[in-house]
Amino acid sequence: QNPTSVKDALHATAPAESILVQGWVRTRRDAKAFSFIELNDGSCLKNLQVIADATMPGYAEVVQKLTTGASIRVQGELIASKGQGQAWEVKAAQVELMGAAGSTYPLQKKGHSMEFLREIAHLRPRANLFGAVFRVRSRLAYAVHQYYQDRGYVYVHTPIITGSDCEGAGELFRVSTLDPMNPPKNEEGGVDYEQDFFARPTYLTVSGQLEAEVFACALGKVYTFGPTFRAENSNTSRHASEFWMIEPEMAFVDLAGNMDVAEDFVKYLIRDVQEHCADDLEIFGKFVDKGLKARLDFVLERPFQRVSYTEAMDILTASGKKWEHPVKWGDNLQSEHERYLAEEHFKCPVTVYNYPKEIKPFYMRLNDDGKTVTAMDVLVPGIGEIVGGSQREERLDVLEANMDHHGLNKEDYSWYLDLRRYGSVPHSGFGLGFERMLMFVTGMANIRDVIPFARTPGNAAF
Ligand code: 4AD
Ligand code: MG
Repeated sequence: QNPTSVKDALHATAPAESILVQGWVRTRRDAKAFSFIELNDGSCLKNLQVIADATMPGYAEVVQKLTTGASIRVQGELIASKGQGQAWEVKAAQVELMGAAGSTYPLQKKGHSMEFLREIAHLRPRANLFGAVFRVRSRLAYAVHQYYQDRGYVYVHTPIITGSDCEGAGELFRVSTLDPMNPPKNEEGGVDYEQDFFARPTYLTVSGQLEAEVFACALGKVYTFGPTFRAENSNTSRHASEFWMIEPEMAFVDLAGNMDVAEDFVKYLIRDVQEHCADDLEIFGKFVDKGLKARLDFVLERPFQRVSYTEAMDILTASGKKWEHPVKWGDNLQSEHERYLAEEHFKCPVTVYNYPKEIKPFYMRLNDDGKTVTAMDVLVPGIGEIVGGSQREERLDVLEANMDHHGLNKEDYSWYLDLRRYGSVPHSGFGLGFERMLMFVTGMANIRDVIPFARTPGNAAF
């Protein structure tokens, strides 16, 4: 007999004389002549109630072993439940213990701290909250593809190992087969990368953007969706060393068009998860963030606010707040500034655009003022920056001058410059941090808790 998932059993439209379900015991309650077993198989948040009657063959031996965490297979009858809270339950004819769990099982039914759960990342997905997180993560990834595929974008697999530092921030993980303690030396006494695997220095990618630009300038509208790596030593609740990023890149689109896509995309993802993960979202509303639903509804109802960087600086200055980092034109927006704009001033997502060129990477298009570039960041309440993007510099001479300014070797980027030499077009794109988006829709407060196995400074267990 084919097993039925708990989800399908709970959504049954009619009773069934014979059903096979399998999963893990969440709890067991014993009455005089029978036991209630709450069974979960990860297919949904809810448990399926199984009633094991004392007249069942082998009841006495097996029932004691049905402790929290044990895996079982149940053969029985799906009947309308007399109890409250569920329409259906299973009256067991046979319960087979597959794997016992016993009293040392770390996930006994009680409240556990997030820190403790991080230490048992191999068992954490069995906790209700984390089952929900990872089901939502899966759905969100599906929705990402659906959004772009439905709109004619081509999915491009950009390389994980690359020779360029797209963001120019120097936060690169080196990829090398050389002995780090004793690398071969060249004539000048430096490391001889000719002898390295790729015969040059290589890194894990920080962004697929530059390669996505290549494809946008051929296929029109493309997107990447894959892992990216940053050796930033920032131990915060929203930075991971390995995270996933979605990067659409669009030919013939300017900054305003780019902002439109980012806003539409973020709203689409919220709507999709609300529609398809309603049960799972309930647990976040209950245990993580009581205001979650109201906040997401509010975000969907109104347009994102748009302000230039210069206007944003004026707002911050006029706020009269005491900032940890002073507000000065030309400096980066710090997390406290981003959150003030989204949470206190506008109370909704904000798109900040036209940043000073000195604090942004080499590829952003220079504005006519000669001081700012067509950067745009989407800031959301509770998190801060969730999207970073720009219109790209499509003018060869301006791009070359900017690369000189950033001290880049133009020969290394000759392929990138070719895009401006041959059939150059205005084009734009952005990156959405997948985990930050997941934090936004679930209300989870720490990026470590929306990644199956998080990598952060000092932490790559498992
Ligand atoms: O703003 P960033 O650095 O932009 C880029 O990498 C561009 N090349 C994207 C593009 O235009 N195609 O990163 C984009 C987003 C951020 O807004 C943030 O959501 C996320 O990626 N992000 C991180 N998420 C988790 N941990 C980190 N260390 C992150 N760094 C960036
Ligand atoms: Mg950024």
